[in-house]
Amino acid sequence: MKDFIDISDFNNNIIADLVMSAHSMKQTAYRGTELAGKTVGLIFEKPSLRTRVSFEMAIHHLGGHAITLRQDEIQLGQRESIEDVANVLSGYIDMVMIRTFSHDQLKQFAQRASIPIINGLTDFSHPCQALADALTLYEHFGRFEGLKITYLGDDNNVSRSLAEICVALSMQFTISSPQQSGSPIEGVIYEPNPKKALIHADAIYTDTWVSMGATVDSAFLDQLKPYQLNEALLSSAPSTAIVMHCLPAHRGEEITDAVLSGSQSKVFDQAENRYHAQKALLAYLSQIQ
Ligand code: CP
Ligand code: NVA
Repeated sequence: MKDFIDISDFNNNIIADLVMSAHSMKQTAYRGTELAGKTVGLIFEKPSLRTRVSFEMAIHHLGGHAITLRQDEIQLGQRESIEDVANVLSGYIDMVMIRTFSHDQLKQFAQRASIPIINGLTDFSHPCQALADALTLYEHFGRFEGLKITYLGDDNNVSRSLAEICVALSMQFTISSPQQSGSPIEGVIYEPNPKKALIHADAIYTDTWVSMGATVDSAFLDQLKPYQLNEALLSSAPSTAIVMHCLPAHRGEEITDAVLSGSQSKVFDQAENRYHAQKALLAYLSQIQ
């Protein structure tokens, strides 16, 4: 497979190898030449801090060159068609990461391009985040098998990829949300009661209630309020549980200041691990071309 679109597109062993490779790259502060003489395009139709900087640094540390393109520059699908942009870029550069709205458009781009395409977040999934999250879990617990991960709040792109990587790596994934997902993933547990959902959790994860580009009505936001990760809710979980969030966080909405900045929080490890996970991913994709 030339592209990295979703965790579930890959064999479980490849996903485990990618995370373990990221772990060893982190331990050795790996610098390589996998992208020497190569250029990776980074297309952003939505804002970013972590994805942009971690990709640029990972490309740099593998000897490659990054070109970052914003939506106002290329106007994908408006100034010219996805097909034409994919064909043109395939003639110039060696790989493209895209952060876009529509998952279908990302897949269309990947079908048209002859070079590897990486999903840097769509409305459907965020697989690069999931790789970094798995690395964070492995660093803390030293294993995957049997870990219990509970996700609280809006069932979104981040929860989808996290659920997929949990299933791939034999972790138990529970989602606690006001609404059960329209397309549930096999093996995922749904528990609408947030206290019950985190009683046995090793890790508790949450994300923004309003994703970039999403419109959410105020009634849904009211339904999400009992899922706020605050000190009272966290006290229902084992004291050894870690707190995770992909960031950016909306302090006082899905998570309180005290919990985000508390001793159980691993959010900055997760952010750093984006760089290590993507270095392993880029090295892997450069080899399979
Ligand atoms: N977590 C994440 O993808 O962050 P950015 O939106 O800043 O890239
Ligand atoms: N669910 C969030 C994740 C941001 C990294 C969003 O799509 O905006």
